[in-house]
Amino acid sequence: MTTLLLLPGDGIGPEVCAQVRRVAAALAPDIRIDERDFGGCSFERHGVPITDEAVAAALAADAVLMGAVGGPQWAGAPRDKRPEAGLLRLRQEMQVFANLRPALCFDALADASSLKRELVAGLDIMIVRELTGGVYFGQPRFIETLPDGQQRGVDTQVYTTSEIERVSRVAFELARGRRNKVHSAEKSNVMESGLLWRQVVTSLHQRDYPDVELEHILADNAAMQLVRAPTQFDVLLTDNLFGDILSDAAAQLTGSLGMLPSAALGEPGRPGLYEPIHGSAPDIAGQGVANPLAAILSFEMALRWSLNRAAEADRLFGAVEAALAAGARTRDLGGRLTTVEMGDAVLSALKA
Ligand code: IPM
Ligand code: MG
Repeated sequence: MTTLLLLPGDGIGPEVCAQVRRVAAALAPDIRIDERDFGGCSFERHGVPITDEAVAAALAADAVLMGAVGGPQWAGAPRDKRPEAGLLRLRQEMQVFANLRPALCFDALADASSLKRELVAGLDIMIVRELTGGVYFGQPRFIETLPDGQQRGVDTQVYTTSEIERVSRVAFELARGRRNKVHSAEKSNVMESGLLWRQVVTSLHQRDYPDVELEHILADNAAMQLVRAPTQFDVLLTDNLFGDILSDAAAQLTGSLGMLPSAALGEPGRPGLYEPIHGSAPDIAGQGVANPLAAILSFEMALRWSLNRAAEADRLFGAVEAALAAGARTRDLGGRLTTVEMGDAVLSALKA
């Protein structure tokens, strides 16, 4: 039996995940949905942002879908107990090294972008962010006190050949099914790990993917090009930290953070981790006005990439497109629908 583990988490997470449950029940009622505490709510109940038992449940599931974690009430918690620490632990334990973050501009929403319509119309970028290495996990990392009383904070940016190669492979494979172009972004002009990144991507490309067009781009220039002429990108491959930053910038191009899903994948056959890109949005949590589409589209990605249900994924994607084309808009999109009403709109498009 197929099992989806739901981790609704904090803030608007539970509200948007409730809509995923409704969509799943309508589209694929045979999928068993299991649920665990995650993030701040797990810290409150269990003293840790994710329990060993929840990690085990994630590893045993076919796919894991989370809502959001974090909130101001946990900002002062010990570092290793903060909601974000739970998310980083989950990513690492699941070994989901390739984070697919699509920045797709739905035609019905092209006017919601902060860029002009003609710059974002037809936008379809897939950011492939390395997710389990780099400065997020590199050792050593610490804050120390120096003899003169100053403090010194240290993080380590580190990548091995195999870490670079496996995520690059995902990018090249994806490109083959799209417009066949990969931009690889790093800072090889300043960083040793960036230089290695460029060398490894180059040799993998020559060896296994000569048919894919490859362009190396410095990460700062990539940021500029994203807001200058974003449609030049097809697949944008980058490391953990640059990917974090560039994917937020790309998300804004599409009009609303409330629209964007993501998939984090490991080796084939292992469960993927699916998450809406938006955070817990504490300012609107509990009001029932959050846009559930990022979570619903994360479920769509889970159907496609982990659950082997491309046909249902296509149907769901079409239903979201149809709902938007018919004018369904939550507040973030300039409309007035509630979270539940947006769920209704998708469900009725599914039935149509
Ligand atoms: C993201 C988030 C996370 C990250 C935080 C919440 C740890 O910003 O998924 O982009 O930095 O990876
Ligand atoms: Mg981020």
